[in-house]
Amino acid sequence: MGVKLLLEKAHVEGIRHYDVYRREGGYRSVEKVLKTMSPDAVTEEVKKAGLRGRGGAGFPAGMKWSFLAKPEGIPRHLVCNADESEPGTFKDRYLMEFLPHLLIEGLIVASYALGSNATYIYIRGEYAWITDILENAIAEAKANGWLGNNIQGSGFNCEIYVQRGAGAYICGEETALIESLEGKRGNPRIKPPFPAVKGVWDRPTVVNNVETLAAVVPIINMGGDEYAKIGVGKSTGTKLISACGNINKPGVYEIDMTISVEEFIYSDEYCGGIKDGKKLKACIPGGSSVPILPANLLLKTAKGETRYMNYESLSDGGFATGSMMGSGGFIVLDEDQCVVKNTYTLARFYRHESCGQCSPCREGTGWMEKILKAIETGKGKMSDIDLLWDIQRKIEGNTICPLGDAAAWPVAAAIRHFRDEFEWHVKNPQECLTRNYGLAHYADPIHVPV
Ligand SMILES: Cc1cc2nc3c(=O)[nH]c(=O)nc-3n(C[C@H](O)[C@H](O)[C@H](O)COP(=O)(O)O)c2cc1C
Ligand code: SF4
Repeated sequence: MGVKLLLEKAHVEGIRHYDVYRREGGYRSVEKVLKTMSPDAVTEEVKKAGLRGRGGAGFPAGMKWSFLAKPEGIPRHLVCNADESEPGTFKDRYLMEFLPHLLIEGLIVASYALGSNATYIYIRGEYAWITDILENAIAEAKANGWLGNNIQGSGFNCEIYVQRGAGAYICGEETALIESLEGKRGNPRIKPPFPAVKGVWDRPTVVNNVETLAAVVPIINMGGDEYAKIGVGKSTGTKLISACGNINKPGVYEIDMTISVEEFIYSDEYCGGIKDGKKLKACIPGGSSVPILPANLLLKTAKGETRYMNYESLSDGGFATGSMMGSGGFIVLDEDQCVVKNTYTLARFYRHESCGQCSPCREGTGWMEKILKAIETGKGKMSDIDLLWDIQRKIEGNTICPLGDAAAWPVAAAIRHFRDEFEWHVKNPQECLTRNYGLAHYADPIHVPV
């Protein structure tokens, strides 16, 4: 059984409510920081812990906090990114639904460190029932003196406000989120300036993911150095993984980042193996934006070493033979799944979610969808595969925000690793309508793409 820092109490009856949460040791970290630590000391502890942002990019949280501008007389804000709209990712939902006070506790500690007296949770609109859970928990925390003015007699004031989004994936991108929070259309901003200098209402702002902010609680309770001993390398602490697809036990798991991908998929403690005894074909290990990997490159790196569930190992080999931890949305595909169809489904999503500001993303996502649809439905040409490759290359790195990259990477990886499957669709326009290509060589001993 791995270490549990976040979900340890998730199954305690009534933990969603203040009394039970407090009885189980809740809000100790707030007491500790308000009584014994300066705001900068809290940031130092998060730095020592090596906590990397859990929203996708893995940027060190303590470093981000230390970049926050502190001009005299200008309010600063902490914004919790609870937009969680990346297909395959549902770990923040679990945290907020079952442990709302853990998030609020983390938010108070982080608000204290950053000097935010007005802190926001921006939550995806579809999580309507969780908004109610959070608002109840905020009211309970306030009634018990953990929010409001002069918290626990410390002189620190903090309010937390919940703002619902309206169903746009792009509002998870931090600057689009900020625009939306300000009541405008959620279009990403050109950076610089970064939110640390000009964020909400042009004030210095830190945007962090739900899980990142919840992890601040165990860091303060146990100390940054102890936290950093869990995990491996720069993958410190624990990580929540939302596992879905063709597995026996879909769900949210907390891992300590030392386990192998093979153990995560096949052990009963986690995914419990592939459903119906089928074979593993491929996996998107970090949410829909990260490169898909065939089974052989997922379980072992191109060097033939075991691949582990951590930031470094999942990205070993770069995009040529590796992928990314991303947001921890682990999507498993069995031997009966069609990679072309899967890529087409993702392309539809990205075309729909593009905000349309940049032409490579606006036009490119539309073209990728059209071409993938043609190939999937037996109407594609061989040259379409190269055309697709060309389009994704023209999007990547040429847009205002990373949604363009997020749309390009799945297409690039699918062609890189599964080109024969695309070619089979073109050569077998009738057969591909009724049958899938199957496993081919994807589970054979390492096949390194060129
Ligand atoms: C299109 C797009 C969607 C995103 N959606 C989310 C999201 O739902 N939740 C999230 O935490 N970060 C999301 N991000 C990343 C955020 O921009 C930002 O990097 C993150 O909230 C920072 O938090 P962290 O440092 O704690 O990881 C998204 C980025 C892009 C480009
Ligand atoms: S990359 Fe796409 S989503 Fe991002 S700003 Fe440009 S058009 Fe909008």
